[in-house]
Amino acid sequence: MSSSDRKMTEDETGDLKGSKKKQKKGDGWRSEGPKDPIAMLNSLPEKKQQEIQRALHLFSLGQGLPRTLQQARKHKYQFWETQPVPRLDGTGDGAVTHGPITDGEVSVREEPYSLPKGFSWDTLDLSNPTVLKELCGLLNENYMEDDDNTIRFDFSLEYLALKPPNWVDQWHCGVRVDSNQKLVGFIAAVPADILIYETEKRLVQVKLLCVHKKLRLKRMTPVLIRELTRRVNRQGLYQAVYTTVNMLPTPLSSCRYWNRSLNPRKLIEVNHPGAMQNMNLRRAVKFNRLPEVTKTPGLRPATNEDLAGIQSVLQESLCNFDLSPLMSLQEVEHWLLPRKNVIDTYVVEGNDGTLTGVVSFYSIFSRVLNHPVHTGLRAAHLLYIASTATDLADLMEDTLVLAKSKGFDVFSAFDVMDNCSFLEKLKFSVSDVSLHYYLYNWMCPTMSSDKVMNLPLPVFKDLHTEKKKGFSY
Ligand SMILES: CC(C)(COP(=O)(O)OP(=O)(O)OC[C@H]1O[C@@H](n2cnc3c(N)ncnc32)[C@H](O)[C@@H]1OP(=O)(O)O)[C@@H](O)C(=O)NCCC(=O)NCCS
Repeated sequence: MSSSDRKMTEDETGDLKGSKKKQKKGDGWRSEGPKDPIAMLNSLPEKKQQEIQRALHLFSLGQGLPRTLQQARKHKYQFWETQPVPRLDGTGDGAVTHGPITDGEVSVREEPYSLPKGFSWDTLDLSNPTVLKELCGLLNENYMEDDDNTIRFDFSLEYLALKPPNWVDQWHCGVRVDSNQKLVGFIAAVPADILIYETEKRLVQVKLLCVHKKLRLKRMTPVLIRELTRRVNRQGLYQAVYTTVNMLPTPLSSCRYWNRSLNPRKLIEVNHPGAMQNMNLRRAVKFNRLPEVTKTPGLRPATNEDLAGIQSVLQESLCNFDLSPLMSLQEVEHWLLPRKNVIDTYVVEGNDGTLTGVVSFYSIFSRVLNHPVHTGLRAAHLLYIASTATDLADLMEDTLVLAKSKGFDVFSAFDVMDNCSFLEKLKFSVSDVSLHYYLYNWMCPTMSSDKVMNLPLPVFKDLHTEKKKGFSY
């Protein structure tokens, strides 16, 4: 870590020993005023709280992160410019070499980064149902909500699959308010083996970064990232992969989010962007009609016995991509074995009993608030589709049929892997939301989205909300 880096850390963690003025700046993400700002805000009437949140949101939109590479090149990233990530000045995104940016092993800080007074680190014990429930609470209330409070993300306990093989408890990193133990920040990492071009790398995948709405724009995020990085480094890992809709230095790849309506009536009624904006209900229903039954022979839900077959179908498709996860049998079981309301995986069994195809998708639930008819929305999000025999578009059409029959309202997918071969054909419509892939402390040439294989967990967001904010890319 460079000296400028350390200085930044101290500024951001409130660990300054300098002037009073500087100390105030260092306490950046602590709310000003009384000791427990959250209690104070909570004591206000609900309506008042909502007004404040709306005002804060408008404020934050004005100051939002850049959305395009051009904007990003002009932006000052106070934190990210101190980190081992490719630069945005044109040298980083045009890298031709492959390898670590810094030699992380040199010095790994032993003690945790300090937090402002009144807050403490807490490693969350996710085997404790009460803690898991608290985490769901933080995410459900703060991870995603649209501008007009109509749709809210609904994490379930089973959904937080944060314990894949070789998981590390220290990487479930929470921040609590001392006075009432309220959980106000979280970031997690899980181990992963990833193939980056020709290099097999054991690294971590960073997930579920979340800061309580009332502590936003106070620079808690850099502290969470630094502390997680320290904890990961302590275990001998120095690279990470992460995805976000935000433009940071410097995307390895960027892809677009596509929606396919399964329940046009409902999507129109809740004003979901997956509904065709330019179509009336009758036309939308006709346009999105699907066959009643599937047509791929041998298509069936995956079982425990299929794990090795799934692994081999996925491995076979790896050579087509520049970024792809390498999954052990245990990982295939953890990430892909069907789990009710979490993941569905189907396989195609050939005449001789060998598997020739696999398709899997996650369930994403949102609550619809304040609607006279609808209370929830069920979205399916494509994780993997691979086949050595069936045409991908046919297999995907069958997947849409299955998802519809299971009550999903919309199916979403990114234009990664070979998905472009069927997206338009199967009436997916492209949204204006992009997802960017990043590597921490690894330099390599950028890649097009069709060279990227999805990572084991999807983005948890219902990206619906981004569209409503009117972002354009
Ligand atoms: C993402 C989130 C944690 C950012 O919090 P915030 O209060 O806006 O930002 P902070 O003031 O704490 O920190 C700002 C710094 O964090 C960086 N940052 C913001 N969002 C980030 C993200 N998703 N990943 C990495 N860094 C991010 C900013 O670039 C900025 O650093 P910079 O000075 O180098 O530009 C918060 O908006 C949140 O909890 N959102 C809901 C959940 C979510 O979207 N999580 C990310 C999933 S991809």
